[in-house]
Amino acid sequence: MELKKISPEEVTRHTSAKDCWVVIHGKVYDVSQFLSDHPGGEDMLLHASSSGDATQSFEDVGHSSSAKKRMSNYLIGELDGYDPFKAKIIRRKSDAVIAAELQKMSFGIKDYALPLTLLFIAIAAWIFDKKPSPEL
Ligand code: HEM
Repeated sequence: MELKKISPEEVTRHTSAKDCWVVIHGKVYDVSQFLSDHPGGEDMLLHASSSGDATQSFEDVGHSSSAKKRMSNYLIGELDGYDPFKAKIIRRKSDAVIAAELQKMSFGIKDYALPLTLLFIAIAAWIFDKKPSPEL
């Protein structure tokens, strides 16, 4: 059976505890009846619903295959204009942003070069200063 096409605008109208839809891999799920039974909690689903696309958070949790099977109970349609290739690029981009941020946070040898040089100069100056000056 062909799935009903649902526009992204329509999805944004269903983000409350009484009426909650989530989009995962381009499929739209009505999880309103599942909110209180969700082992990950109601808030997770509500937050995922208002975020627009819950795919990344759903995958990050690493749901079991039985959880994935349960999803079909809530499937109501597919997102109109969904392009799996584009969605993948967007997700890859966010991974790249995270990687760049992590790289910025890590310290490399160049970060220690200046303090180490200054320390070396200070020690050398101290040793030099301690040497008795030759009698004239
Ligand atoms: C129709 C969609 C969903 C279904 C049917 C579903 C179902 C389940 C099930 C059965 C579990 C128990 C653990 C497992 O079997 O993997 C679970 C756990 C969980 N789910 Fe979902 N889930 C859905 C969507 C989401 C979304 C969009 C999020 C967003 C973050 C989410 C977050 C979590 C979290 C945090 C846990 C707890 C994991 C843990 O404590 O180990 N779920 N979900």
